[in-house]
Amino acid sequence: MSELNKIAVKIISNGKGILAADESNATMTKRLEVVNINSTPDNRLSFREILFSSEEMKDCIGGVILYDETINQTASSGKSIPDLISSSGAVPGIKVDTGAKNLANSPEEKITEGLDGLRDRLKKYYALGARFTKWRGVYSISEKYPSELAISCNAHALARYSALVQESGMVPIVEPEVLMDGNHSADVCLSKTSEVIKKCFDELILHKVDLSGIILKPNMILAGNKSKNKISNEEVSLKTLECLKNCVPNEVPGIAFLSGGQSEIEATENLNLINKNNNTNFIMTYSYGRALQQSALKVWSKNIKDIETTQNTFNHRAKMCTLAAQGKWSSELENK
Ligand code: 13P
Repeated sequence: MSELNKIAVKIISNGKGILAADESNATMTKRLEVVNINSTPDNRLSFREILFSSEEMKDCIGGVILYDETINQTASSGKSIPDLISSSGAVPGIKVDTGAKNLANSPEEKITEGLDGLRDRLKKYYALGARFTKWRGVYSISEKYPSELAISCNAHALARYSALVQESGMVPIVEPEVLMDGNHSADVCLSKTSEVIKKCFDELILHKVDLSGIILKPNMILAGNKSKNKISNEEVSLKTLECLKNCVPNEVPGIAFLSGGQSEIEATENLNLINKNNNTNFIMTYSYGRALQQSALKVWSKNIKDIETTQNTFNHRAKMCTLAAQGKWSSELENK
């Protein structure tokens, strides 16, 4: 096993998943405004520190994705944030893209930026303790989109990013997110997501990326959020498995789904069914942002001094997701 493979496997084994706490300041501000909290560096740190010091970090969370601001912050104990995360046994990670911008010549679509100067930024993040990274390509579905141009240039960027990250001794999370916005059917999501993922692997292979040292972070196969033809959770799991079985090379150790706007319960139940029906060799786990944090954020916003109730809420969510990552979740356990 290569060193990179060992890191990847450590992050996602034994039902462990990833806490995506890498919201940019702009996105975190949106999340905090919804619950009437001022988005200051101290408030952003307070909430995140509460999550990172929760009990279930030890048993459930194999990796935490940070944003540049947070990886440079210090916890109230005096420990650096990466040290706080490592002390629970989880691996610190860092988002390294600089965001999705309008794609020239197809301005309704996005291209993710951040390759310039990346090699030097990676050195800095490695020195701060990061051992894995994230880069998100984003694609929307409509009659015309995603275009061949968006599919091709985002795959190219993901591959160049991955090669640089592995060169720096870290594991790249490769995140091609096909958004759920729209009225498309689940079958259209299946065909577009398959096209996107296949192209990513074509480019990763071209750029000689070690596929045993990456984690794929895809969307699940869902009908669009405005579609009248929703499918059952069982069908979501089967179509998601079909997509990944057809598009992901066997060397890839694991897949950690994004929640992408699903509710906490939906994201948990769908992951559970994916694991129950898993007919692949891939580890299937979670790399959730909203679906791990939403309830905890709501509780915290009511009384930002109430660390215990906030942590209990997060602990429960993490436990449910970890059960789902082993196909052992049930609604009885959810409501116990
Ligand atoms: P969500 O689970 O909220 O979609 O966030 C995951 C993520 O990291 C998006 O890039």
